[in-house]
Amino acid sequence: MKVVRVNLGLRSYDIQIGDGVLSSCGELFRDHKVGSRIFLIANTTVWDLYGQPFMECLTKDGFDVVQLLIPDGERFKNIHTVENIYTYLIAQRADRNSTLAALGGGVTGDITGFVAATFLRGIPYIQIPTTLLAQVDSSVGGKTGVNHSLGKNLIGAFYQPNLVCIDTRSLATLPEREFRAGLFEVVKYGLIYDADFFDYFEANLSTILEREVDVLETVISRCCEIKAEVISIDEREENLRQILNFGHTLGHALEVATQYRTFKHGEAVAYGMLAAAHLSHHEGLVDSVALDRIRQTVLGIGPLPSALEISFSQLLDSIKLDKKRRDDETVVVLLKEIGQTLIKSGFEEELLAEVWGRAVADVSQHG
Ligand code: NAD
Ligand code: GLY
Repeated sequence: MKVVRVNLGLRSYDIQIGDGVLSSCGELFRDHKVGSRIFLIANTTVWDLYGQPFMECLTKDGFDVVQLLIPDGERFKNIHTVENIYTYLIAQRADRNSTLAALGGGVTGDITGFVAATFLRGIPYIQIPTTLLAQVDSSVGGKTGVNHSLGKNLIGAFYQPNLVCIDTRSLATLPEREFRAGLFEVVKYGLIYDADFFDYFEANLSTILEREVDVLETVISRCCEIKAEVISIDEREENLRQILNFGHTLGHALEVATQYRTFKHGEAVAYGMLAAAHLSHHEGLVDSVALDRIRQTVLGIGPLPSALEISFSQLLDSIKLDKKRRDDETVVVLLKEIGQTLIKSGFEEELLAEVWGRAVADVSQHG
């Protein structure tokens, strides 16, 4: 078992990572002084896989657990689902000593965190991420929220969990496409922060794809360490945390343009990272050897749905609504080289359209 600490003063918390963590959660919860009443939020898919045994485990350890089911899918990450949860919590007389526990992927975690941030002006919550993407990214750092029909994650709050429990074993049931979608976020950490980790990822991709438990623990721990380090320096994305959005401006726009139906979040980010890498090269930053390594590694993770039918103009509206825009300019995270970033704005739309085209061509040529 590995423990990564997120250092945020009074809001500090642990990320517990290991094989079989789910079955020892009762003990972990007690060690972390979690209140006795827990509202366990999961979607129907994850509940069928892990809900019952997990709930029984907690009950056996003396917790009073109430089950709360939500529908499965990014399109349900909206204010209506949040309202349904509020209604249920009120009906069940949840109070400020109640704890919400999000069991599932990033959608469940983001919704649960937002409910926790806002219900009774804030109640504790715990993240128990079961997708790779949620384990390496969304469960850590306290970004919570939901989508608006006009844009991704436009409604939300920074609100840190009290604990994150990551069971690497839960990845065994994750569909191949979801696993690969998470790997796009994994490679992001190497690209933006740690060239050695990028080398490791590049060299060990085939073993990682086999989901060997020790390798998964190494990879997930390193991602959590990097994220914890970044968050501890800049919790509210005023400076350093922006680097975590590498590939996300175009990625989010692609998700919105396709109504969250065509691309997994990580797949959309993969397009965004390819475009950002091309832009970095155009700006005289990464050289052609590094650009080629980035393209090969990102494309080597797995097939991406085609974006040939999506023109740049379809992405523009949502790019203009991006939270990260400043003074009406799109802020883009670029790579100086592998492992180092540079944040820049003021790009012409034509140039952004050109690098978007190159990313789309990379994917279609790779087959
Ligand atoms: P998801 O939550 O939709 O999960 C993907 C699918 O996997 C779902 O169908 C889910 O039911 C299923 N699933 C979950 N765990 C499983 C398991 N162990 N076995 C089998 N199936 C399982 O998607 P995601 O990729 O986990 O998260 C994407 C969301 O995370 C997006 O909404 C994105 O905006 C958000 N996100 C948030 C942050 C943040 O910092 N808060 C960071 C990155 C992404
Ligand atoms: N996923 C980006 C962040 O947490 O800041």
